[in-house]
Amino acid sequence: MKKIIAIASFATLLVVSCTTKAPVATATPSAPTSTPEQIAQGKTIFENSCGRCHKLPDPTSHNSVQWVGIMNSMAPKAKLTDDQHQWVYDYIVSVKK
Ligand code: HEC
Repeated sequence: MKKIIAIASFATLLVVSCTTKAPVATATPSAPTSTPEQIAQGKTIFENSCGRCHKLPDPTSHNSVQWVGIMNSMAPKAKLTDDQHQWVYDYIVSVKK
């Protein structure tokens, strides 16, 4: 069910990104940086999934390199998909700026 929602929302994002005049940087679907919509989704996932076992971590408490390692160990604990892993990471890193 979660997967269906993820696919549905991804499809929506594709439609949105095709209809808006976003800068066409590349045609590859797996661009390394997330869209603002995906980062917003990452924030929601972060708030819902990352405070279950411990206090919700402060995104500014670690640097972007440390977060790579933390997310590699925490994403499986939170049962995130690869996409969700990426969005949560991009959200966390976006907070620092
Ligand atoms: C299933 C339980 C569980 C979930 C869900 C979970 N964590 Fe954790 N987390 C832990 C445990 C246990 C530790 C401490 C032991 C360890 O580091 O593995 C920890 C430690 C941490 C730390 C401290 C690591 C350090 O090096 O200081 C951070 C930051 C963190 N988690 C972030 C997250 C984020 C972000 C998410 C969401 C993607 C998340 N956690 C989801 C169980 C969880």
